[in-house]
Amino acid sequence: MKASTDMHMTDEPFRDSFNRQIDYLRISITDKCNLKCIYCMPEKGLKLFNQAEILTTDEIIRIVRIASKYGVRKVRLTGGEPLLREDIIHLISSIKTAGIQDLSMTTNGQRLAGMAGLLKKTGLDRVNISLDTLIAERYREMTRGGDIHRVWEAVSEAESAGLSPVKINMVPVRGVNDDEVSRFAALTLYKDVHIRFIEFMPVGKHSTWQPDAYLSKDEIMERVASVGKLVQLPFKGGGPSRNYRIEGAQGMIGFISPISDCFCGSCNRLRLTANGKLRPCLFSETSVDIKAHLRNGASDEELENLYRNAVLSKPARHALHEGSLLHPAMSPMSQIGG
Ligand code: 5AD
Ligand code: SF4
Repeated sequence: MKASTDMHMTDEPFRDSFNRQIDYLRISITDKCNLKCIYCMPEKGLKLFNQAEILTTDEIIRIVRIASKYGVRKVRLTGGEPLLREDIIHLISSIKTAGIQDLSMTTNGQRLAGMAGLLKKTGLDRVNISLDTLIAERYREMTRGGDIHRVWEAVSEAESAGLSPVKINMVPVRGVNDDEVSRFAALTLYKDVHIRFIEFMPVGKHSTWQPDAYLSKDEIMERVASVGKLVQLPFKGGGPSRNYRIEGAQGMIGFISPISDCFCGSCNRLRLTANGKLRPCLFSETSVDIKAHLRNGASDEELENLYRNAVLSKPARHALHEGSLLHPAMSPMSQIGG
């Protein structure tokens, strides 16, 4: 076990107790969202954090600098909807200059059109855009008010701006949009786009997750395979996505399946919630309240200690396999950042 007091002297990412190198930080920069996707939020919305609870840009940057010192090279901005944050441009440029090589964002795409070029110029490298249906009316229903045309504008602007590869996140929900899995897969045939099918996860006390609504990776894959022969691509890095290409297709298809396949053994990430908690695992409420210490005048050394403790408290694996699929006490996805 590593001593938790010594300074981190190498460029190597800091390792957790299970020898996994942690080089990726996901930051939820706001819990606000301009949509209410049916699998993420209840119809009446969620109680939001007070503004004072949300980390400021300076606080985020201070944490990113520490993470960077401990070998974090990749940061993803999530939400809620990250583009609702007014200081997003300043945030991106400051994070990019804090030693982060790969800066990406997950967005619902409602506000991206008109901003993609500026975001890219400021230092954003890539975007993932959430899109669960190709049908305008269904999109409006699934997101409770979203406009699909804005998403398509966002996709094409992101491509032109070089925020690539543009990845599209699709969560199949049985009886809602699962009939579109093969249509999404077919998009990759003639378009160099990366579609990522994400298993519907039971996260948050307001989740509408039910066993019946969930499609396993095998079931999703079977539908994708009806479009063409799937060829597996080499596994890259510590990410959870298992990537494939339909033979002869331009684009790629990824499967993110925390329930079917536990990818915890290669987990490389830590999360920072919108209200300033370092969260070692998406599926566990354990967290380190770094904001409380920051606001109490903690020194860099104390913050480094908290960072190390958060990394060292990463569990070996999540508990989804133990049948405890719904966590009544879990924070909503829009606060943790997915
Ligand atoms: N299960 C799977 N994916 C989810 N997302 C949000 N909630 C869930 C859930 N319960 C996804 C969104 C978005 C990303 C931020 O997380 O589709 O792409
Ligand atoms: Fe907003 Fe994303 Fe949740 Fe949809 S999934 S309501 S876009 S935070």
